[in-house]
Amino acid sequence: MLYYCSTNRSVTLNLNLIIMANPNINIKYTQIFINNEFVNSVSGKKFPVQNPSTEKIIAQVAEGDKADIDKAVKAAKTAFARASPWRKLKPSERGVLLLKLADLVERDKTILASIETLENGKPFSGAEWEISATVEFLRYYAGWCDKIHGSTLPSDDGTVVMTRKEPIGVAGQITPWNGPVVITAIKWGPALAAGCTVILKPAEQAPLAILYLAALSKEAGFPPGVINVVPGYGPTAGAALAEHPDVAKIAFTGSVEVGKKIMVAAGNSNLKRVSLELGGKSPFVIFDDVNVEEAAQIAHEAIFNYSGQICIAASRVYVHSKIYDAFIKKSKELAIQRKVGDPFDPKTMQGPQVEQDIFDRAMKYISIGKKEGATLVTGGERQGNVGYFIKPTIFSDVTDDMTIAKEEIFGPVQSILKFDTMEDVIKRANNTTYGLGAGVLTNDINKALTFAQAVESGSVWVNQYGAVSTTAPFGGYKQSGIGREFGAEGLEQYLETKTISIKLTESA
Ligand code: NAI
Ligand code: MG
Repeated sequence: MLYYCSTNRSVTLNLNLIIMANPNINIKYTQIFINNEFVNSVSGKKFPVQNPSTEKIIAQVAEGDKADIDKAVKAAKTAFARASPWRKLKPSERGVLLLKLADLVERDKTILASIETLENGKPFSGAEWEISATVEFLRYYAGWCDKIHGSTLPSDDGTVVMTRKEPIGVAGQITPWNGPVVITAIKWGPALAAGCTVILKPAEQAPLAILYLAALSKEAGFPPGVINVVPGYGPTAGAALAEHPDVAKIAFTGSVEVGKKIMVAAGNSNLKRVSLELGGKSPFVIFDDVNVEEAAQIAHEAIFNYSGQICIAASRVYVHSKIYDAFIKKSKELAIQRKVGDPFDPKTMQGPQVEQDIFDRAMKYISIGKKEGATLVTGGERQGNVGYFIKPTIFSDVTDDMTIAKEEIFGPVQSILKFDTMEDVIKRANNTTYGLGAGVLTNDINKALTFAQAVESGSVWVNQYGAVSTTAPFGGYKQSGIGREFGAEGLEQYLETKTISIKLTESA
């Protein structure tokens, strides 16, 4: 099991990190990666990437837009053409390439994690976990390469009907900044296992670790054009990829707002296949038969991990009225103890928000929470005046109609609501446009399974929160997304099914 959030991850990983983290890492790759070469943008433009802890610019990156996307699509199309070096590989040879890439990621784990912490402010222990998860995803999908097959189906006498699973073609992938490296592996792994070629448009806030990963893919031996990375902004580079007539599929992770635009672009262009992993307003239900201190600890990590900037963040905590006050008391203690600061410091539990905009959004929601009458238990303000740090914030007496209970904040803000009955809490948990994650803590199997079956959510965690596995489908109900990533279902996103029907001509 991998964990997006866990109560003890930072403790277990910190041991070897103190020696390894490198905040002064040299950023080697800042250009567009097409056909296994790093090149400048057609326009010659560059954009800055900032360290959110210091607000200093750490790199100027080549800014791709439509012209660069056109170049990348051309390269990916050529690499996908019949009888190309990539298409001629045996499936098992694709697997070997993915395994090599995984080995190189493992070799350069410290470099990748350091770059990520520099560009997105994630505590180094979290970044290192992310790189380990990247290795696991690449190895998992490497194993699939030579196990993808169709079937022979029952049919009329004198006929044979069979299916083939074929790669969908050139795959466009648009990713966010909160888990840039692992989200790339979650998209490259199944695409490459299926035999597709890819163009990835990383988030403008955090393209650097992905460009490093691109360099590793060349070292691993992927043929030119199979993997392409075009950094740039969403409305230019991202939109050009989503609209491109030669792109067969887009996989997107990010906001609901942009997810809708991707679907429109697909409809307006070539009806490319779309899979979306969007946000959430995930409910976490805590019954009165649990150890309150432990429950508060799990709920604390479930929202505050990576400063609340996680799609499955447990942003609505429903606590049974019998333990409500005790739960708030313990949650407050934990929030006050949470060490916020330099993400390279091994004692740090929470770094900054990724950028000014995301910081401003979270601060806006905090002020709305106060205005709408929620009780501010702790936090609610900026920490320091350099870097986008926000003190861990808790609101109690939150009601379902409040904005902070309805909209995704993507910040370190825990909203605690009160409930009494199962029926009531199921109805309230489902009263949302989202459906990505949900959790329940109880020692009563009947309660756990009643809730797990009734909640409208792609993942449900019982007596834990946020565990994910390479093998288990991950994705959303309702506006949290379309399609599933991870596991065999993730692979299906990159495959077309072809039916071949053969009439046998009798031989003499
Ligand atoms: P976003 O959805 O704007 O950005 C995600 C990716 O989409 C980036 O690569 C961006 O460049 C690209 N993009 C933006 N506009 C585009 C367009 N018109 N066409 C194609 N691609 C486009 O998310 P942003 O602005 O970083 O964050 C806003 C909110 O979205 C967050 O506060 C959070 O609520 C949610 N979000 C959810 C994530 C998740 O893990 N599901 C990750 C990041 C953000
Ligand atoms: Mg945006």
